[in-house]
Amino acid sequence: MNIVYNKTSNHFHLYNDRISYIIGITVGGDIINLYYGKRIHDRDDFSHVIFRMGLPNVAVDADTESYSKELNRQEYSSFGTTDFGVQAFEIEMENGSRISSFSYKSHKIYAGKPVITGLPATYADESEAMTLDITLKDELAGVGLVLSYTIFDKYPVVARHTVFKNIGEAKVKITRALSCCLDLPDQNYEWMQFSGAWARERIPEIKKLSTGVTYIESRRGVSSANQNPFVILKRPNTDEFMGEAIAFSFVYSGNFIALADGSTHGRLRMLMGINPDRFAWPLESGESFETPEVVIAMTDSGLNDLSHTYHRLYNNNLVRGKWKNKPRPILINNWEATFMDFTEDSILKIASKAKDAGVELFVLDDGWFGDRDDDFAGLGDWVENPKKLPQGMAGLSKKINDLGLKFGFWIEPEMVNPDSNLFRRHPDWILAAPGRKSSLGRHQLVLDYSRKEVVDHIFDMLYAVISSSKIDYIKWDMNRPLTEVYSVAASSEEQGMIAHKYVLGVYSLYSRLTEAFPDILFESCSSGGNRFDAGMLYYAPQAWCSDNTDAIDRIRIQYGSSYGYPLVSMGAHVSAVPNQQTGRSTSIDTRANVAYFGTFGYELDLNEISDEEFELVKKQIEFMKENRELIQFGDFYRLRSPFEKDQCAWMVVSEDKSKAIVGFYCMRSNVNVLPGFLKLAGLDENKKYKMEGKIYFGDELMNMGLSVLEFQKKGFALARDFDSFVTVIEAV
Ligand code: GLA
Repeated sequence: MNIVYNKTSNHFHLYNDRISYIIGITVGGDIINLYYGKRIHDRDDFSHVIFRMGLPNVAVDADTESYSKELNRQEYSSFGTTDFGVQAFEIEMENGSRISSFSYKSHKIYAGKPVITGLPATYADESEAMTLDITLKDELAGVGLVLSYTIFDKYPVVARHTVFKNIGEAKVKITRALSCCLDLPDQNYEWMQFSGAWARERIPEIKKLSTGVTYIESRRGVSSANQNPFVILKRPNTDEFMGEAIAFSFVYSGNFIALADGSTHGRLRMLMGINPDRFAWPLESGESFETPEVVIAMTDSGLNDLSHTYHRLYNNNLVRGKWKNKPRPILINNWEATFMDFTEDSILKIASKAKDAGVELFVLDDGWFGDRDDDFAGLGDWVENPKKLPQGMAGLSKKINDLGLKFGFWIEPEMVNPDSNLFRRHPDWILAAPGRKSSLGRHQLVLDYSRKEVVDHIFDMLYAVISSSKIDYIKWDMNRPLTEVYSVAASSEEQGMIAHKYVLGVYSLYSRLTEAFPDILFESCSSGGNRFDAGMLYYAPQAWCSDNTDAIDRIRIQYGSSYGYPLVSMGAHVSAVPNQQTGRSTSIDTRANVAYFGTFGYELDLNEISDEEFELVKKQIEFMKENRELIQFGDFYRLRSPFEKDQCAWMVVSEDKSKAIVGFYCMRSNVNVLPGFLKLAGLDENKKYKMEGKIYFGDELMNMGLSVLEFQKKGFALARDFDSFVTVIEAV
């Protein structure tokens, strides 16, 4: 990895073994992209790439009368001068002008990676990454910009963010501050987004790009289940195993936009950042604003390779703390077993049976605090309900620990029910527009996390209950979108800051809790996977993937999530049948065969299953204990897409290729069709592997494939709906 600056031609070349990112400075001081893609040799001069020719009906700059921003690939696009595409930023001066003209002033190249104040971001030490900070100035507006680029040594990744600074005397207002702008020279891409809603999160959708704008966004206050802040641009022929693709992952958990703008001259612009809709950030003299980070990765060998990059990078350079790269405890959660209707005794009964099965951690879900017997009351009152926990959290956690299980519980700290002591005492602590009724979501209101006193108060309450007991795990939920985003504590001018300040408030509480309790494993949740993003992973290394625990639906949800997020981040549990959300019944084997490919746990009362199933559960837990390190941190390959076929298959392979685990799922049976072969991936061609007692060469398994018939003969009746098998392959 290196970043070179060529003085004569004024270009920067960021490269590692796999990629090159080349940035030029034009005569007028404009920062443009000269190349981004597979690694190429450096050379003295790339300036021939700059397009310096006025075309009819194109605006050119007044000094050279030949250079147009519109015809060159901008690194941080602006609107108002010679570019008519979508802009990356906009600054309003006091006189109302929204035109800016930034030019290069200086740059800094250094080893390592900067921290972004108050925001999650990938991190790297001096041997892992190098950074280029380019400083630009608009003297008239009195604003400085720093475009920050970090290239990683081991990954085909460039991380970008931008810093704005008011260096003048007058106040300015930033009305748009995206994190990155990447202009590409052609539009022959397909846009792949991950969309959905509650219980059907992160389902891939593909669209062909051309001229005009394609975009996704969230305006719900959270990153959302509706659109995930992760987008892939792939060549039309790119598949899981071959072809080029570039992906953009936003390390942020609030409103966002991801946008591709295809110009009619043939350029493709990709933008990503905080959603500019209703965003306005005043900057007084001397103040700065830092955008969150976008992690841009590329591949020339297919989407599995692209996913491996994100999986490794996020496991090694985003997740922090004690649980980084540690296999996760097998847990049981009481939510689907009891909902809020439980007593200490009924909880202990579930826990004790789970312990017999080999479970390691008990999670007490919603309903333990305040007057919380249903979802109409109690949120905000983070004090134990004595009817349910007669000896408090301390009493229950001790009893659970005495059974030999670790203990954790659920919180939803950003919310308050109108029927709660907190709301009665502080009715003005919510996001609410003056004189208007506040919309409800699950009978609850959203606390105004842009206010420090609100976050402080919640921290104190949670600190008290967490520190009263031995707590190993916290599930942090967030169950409604933000509405009436207005803070009574802010001036009219500051209202455009509230949505972002809310997210900063959430991050600050996460920071304070994770610092106060560094050993606790945090799992984020938002009505399932409504805030499943890279920003959250910085604080909570795992996230509840979806409230939909139906194995067949989960295949799709986990498959879609795997494009941008590592398996170890995906909360996945075996629940009861018929499934609560879909009414579908699948075998306990199939439910586990899907949940293995995540953090793994149970969300049912094991007292209520048959003895025969209980024996299977014991075996499942044994299997997961033995294999979780490989599953959670191995290289994951998507082999057969559940969106294209009635079957799904995936596998994980250990780094040294000595062991692999394959999962195969029949989502719908097809009558009178040959069972076929499943081609495996990632193995060593020359190694011999043992599978189900037989020996195969790696090249046979990858090229001829694994005969599905083998498994049918062995009693895996794959002819039936919802059957599945998981098999272990070991080098001999
Ligand atoms: C949300 C979560 C569930 C559960 C409930 C509790 O829906 O996604 O897992 O914790 O809240 O109210």
